[in-house]
Amino acid sequence: MPSFLMCPPDFYQIEYEINPWMNRRRPAETAAAMRQWLALHDLLTTKLGATVELLSPVKGLPDLVFTANAGLVAGEKFIRSHFRFPQRQREVPQFEAWFKKRAYRIFAVPEEAFFEGEGDALPLGKRFFAGYRMRSDIQSHWKVAEILGCEVLSLELVDPRFYHLDTCFCPLTDRAALYFPPAFDDYGRKVIAASIPEAIPVVPEEALRFACNAIVIGNEVVLHAGCEATNRELRRRGLKVHELDLSEFHRAGGSAKCLVLRLS
Ligand code: ARG
Repeated sequence: MPSFLMCPPDFYQIEYEINPWMNRRRPAETAAAMRQWLALHDLLTTKLGATVELLSPVKGLPDLVFTANAGLVAGEKFIRSHFRFPQRQREVPQFEAWFKKRAYRIFAVPEEAFFEGEGDALPLGKRFFAGYRMRSDIQSHWKVAEILGCEVLSLELVDPRFYHLDTCFCPLTDRAALYFPPAFDDYGRKVIAASIPEAIPVVPEEALRFACNAIVIGNEVVLHAGCEATNRELRRRGLKVHELDLSEFHRAGGSAKCLVLRLS
């Protein structure tokens, strides 16, 4: 059974604007955010049999809840993120300390390159697909490939609303993935078509509801609420779908997948 790292939203809020979804005049409702986060935690641990480890929340680090951006974990290796925005660079010591304490081998990408962890690097079969331009830099990808000893296919992200790969691309099995075609350039779409036998496009309304920011555990999928067409397509493929209202996190530009980091 898989295990994930999560961080409770005690200090979650929209305190700055680093993506087109964030608007300080549309703050998050704290109690609702806590309820939604707890519902995700509960679904993962009780219904889906996952283990969840916790990172302590820190006042002044409102985006620490998005643990997918801590870095990338593979076995005992942890490749820590190098955030593009200074507001999130302050999270790095928190994440690093957590992994150090648990004796992970810590790796970093070259200093001149940005890398935002699992938000921009997703495994599919034996390789990783990695996003660049909005947050991570393509120069970080060769380093990730070297550390993990596997092939990394780089995909350019062209729409600022889909600034992390996990907002527009979601591996389902080792031959199928959900994706939102307009978030990629022609060449990226070509790479996806050539390397993923079943690339399933998501409709625009649902892509904007972060249908691709789903958590996949075997044949169970945790999906942002209100993504009917995606839900239907997943069920048609024999997957079991659990819809969750994570609207308070959508305000910061995230949904289910951003709130967890896969540990194993
Ligand atoms: N407000 C956060 C940011 O802009 C949201 C991060 C969402 N994380 C993700 N893996 N897509 O960095």
